[in-house]
Amino acid sequence: MDSLAPGSGAAGWGPAAGSEPTDTRDPLGLLDLFGDPFVRDPYPWLDLLRSESPVHHDPATGLWLVSRHQDVRRVLLDSERFHPDNAQHAVTPLPIAVLRVLARVGFTLPPALANNGTPSHSGLRRVVTRFFNAQRVAAAVPVIESIADELLDGVRSQLDTTDGCDLFTSFAQVLPCRVLMEVLGIRGVEPATLIRWSDASLELFWGRPPLERQLELAELVAEFHQWLTATVRSDTVPADSFIGALARHRLPDGRPLDAETAVAACFFVFIAGQSTTGQLIATVLRRALEEPGRWPRMAGAAGPAEAWVEEVLRREPPVTTWRRVTPQATRLGGVALPAGAQLLLMLMGSGSDPEVFPKPEQMCPNRANIRHHLAFGAGRHRCPGASLARTEAAVALRAAARRLPDIRPAAGAGEPPMLGLLSFRAPSKVAVERA
Ligand code: HEM
Repeated sequence: MDSLAPGSGAAGWGPAAGSEPTDTRDPLGLLDLFGDPFVRDPYPWLDLLRSESPVHHDPATGLWLVSRHQDVRRVLLDSERFHPDNAQHAVTPLPIAVLRVLARVGFTLPPALANNGTPSHSGLRRVVTRFFNAQRVAAAVPVIESIADELLDGVRSQLDTTDGCDLFTSFAQVLPCRVLMEVLGIRGVEPATLIRWSDASLELFWGRPPLERQLELAELVAEFHQWLTATVRSDTVPADSFIGALARHRLPDGRPLDAETAVAACFFVFIAGQSTTGQLIATVLRRALEEPGRWPRMAGAAGPAEAWVEEVLRREPPVTTWRRVTPQATRLGGVALPAGAQLLLMLMGSGSDPEVFPKPEQMCPNRANIRHHLAFGAGRHRCPGASLARTEAAVALRAAARRLPDIRPAAGAGEPPMLGLLSFRAPSKVAVERA
């Protein structure tokens, strides 16, 4: 497999050196979106898709892969021809035994936010944006800094006593969860539990787990749903919390929100608001540590850390793909799509489109169009948490570079283990040691 893969041997971060396939078989026929070669080094595959088959039917998943920046953007902005209904469908079908575990707690995900193409979307979205607007994010900065400092105290003492530490589990993963709990007023649950529920949900709906693992994950997702349902139904929820705001929300016809939709909104926001940002911080730290001379430059005043975060979002975003579905037969990039075509928008690949980003393989924090990437989507479903995510990642990077000036990637750690789900990709370990 490796020798047939386009660009095999190319470094994950660098250009697709020697990316000419030597086999005469169609190299895209070998594409496995969950396979190790794609997860470790997706760039040569993404380049090949963009140049050879920009709207490509993937027989393994049945998805249509859309990889050019202009096509991805067109789809995101055209909510008439491309609907969001499939955004949270399980990519690996859930067998009856798994559905039974979920049914036991009445698990449903009615249209709420990302999967909502109905008229109730804009009102529900406004509830979310009120919690993450520029003012709220600016007010959250001292909170983010103080949680970052507290976590880095722990990292510092671990490094001083043991020499080594994993910045993902001890810092990157925990910070966004703690911040989200503060910003949304989430109470009555441990951050570690929320992280476990959120990660399980991502793997169950966006992964390719075998049956036994699906059953384990479904138990955790069911627990999460049960806790959300009890919390949404409780009459002691603070009025100024996110759940309190959902309880006051009225649908376009004046009715209050039903509990199932409120739970579905929380389910998505509680996952989207922490796991993705933790993944971004992991990649941001990893890449800044790996590039010679970059780490100390991140410790100064605001500016360099923000620009580094933006380039990572372009080149190696945590949310690598997003889905849409065609209600009617249509055409895209010269390709005829049937009604019901499930599209996979290659957000990560679009950030390396040379038509938009010259020399895409190079990290250029001073690019003129640095924010033109699609890491947060576009149009009416564009990520309302973008500003919080960017701010958290920049604060985390700056704080870590200041507090840990003497660290480097752990010697002999090799390539880190990677989370490689359909739409989420990041190192699940950032091992460092004292230099
Ligand atoms: C690095 C971190 C993040 C990335 C890369 C990311 C990415 C995305 C993407 C690609 C979408 C789909 C956009 C579309 O369909 O056009 C999305 C939607 C969404 N994101 Fe994020 N996100 C991140 C962090 C957050 C945070 C911190 C929150 C906080 C609550 C959040 C909440 C949401 C919500 C509610 C939606 C659905 C919006 C709607 O349908 O109107 N995300 N995000």
